[in-house]
Amino acid sequence: MAARGVFITFEGIDGVGKSTQIKLLAERLRSDGHAPCLTREPGGSTGAEEIRNLLVQGDPGRWSGETECLLFTAARRDHLEKTILPALEAGKIVLCDRFADSTRVYQGLARGDLRALVDRLHAQFIGREPDLTFILDMAPEAALHRGLARGSGEDRFEEMGLPFQHRLRAGFQAIAHEYPERCRLIDAARAPEIIAAEIAALTAAYIAAQAPA
Ligand code: TYD
Repeated sequence: MAARGVFITFEGIDGVGKSTQIKLLAERLRSDGHAPCLTREPGGSTGAEEIRNLLVQGDPGRWSGETECLLFTAARRDHLEKTILPALEAGKIVLCDRFADSTRVYQGLARGDLRALVDRLHAQFIGREPDLTFILDMAPEAALHRGLARGSGEDRFEEMGLPFQHRLRAGFQAIAHEYPERCRLIDAARAPEIIAAEIAALTAAYIAAQAPA
């Protein structure tokens, strides 16, 4: 039987602590003998990283919602082909910072009413959902403060303001209800080690449930 990996994504509003949690889960998996593949969107492959620069830098009004959908989908397709699917075929656990749920929420909901377009593009060009999705949830006031404090120069979406971040938070909560079988809503306002322990336990439970009896 072909090796089958596990595809895990992390989602949430800007500044919610996804990258810290990915790092902590990766450390935990390595200590359990796994060799996880860490990746991110937009980006995660050479071509998609080039598209990323077009998306995260520059004026907040640079692209229409429709153009953004196309650019994110193009980046995701390259990422899927070059990074995610090869790692899953090699039997790896893939930990991905954002995936299609971000497009559903950022472009599909919060930037306008484009969910039908997002769904059509996803069905046609991506057609793959994660096995497990951790949605990190916290108040935008606290998250935005953390995100902008990083001063990364990649703040195009953070600069869209607090009401936008509130729409995003509600959008991610709705995704957790829409896809209850793969999504786990995580209270991200707690201490990082407490959150990490919950995520590690949920991941271990998923992996154990997949193991052949
Ligand atoms: P990311 O690097 O994850 O930023 P952060 O670390 O601040 O969360 O993502 C860059 C930005 O791109 C982020 O503000 C969310 C946005 N984004 C979308 O609008 N749609 C998408 O499909 C994805 C993957 C990201």
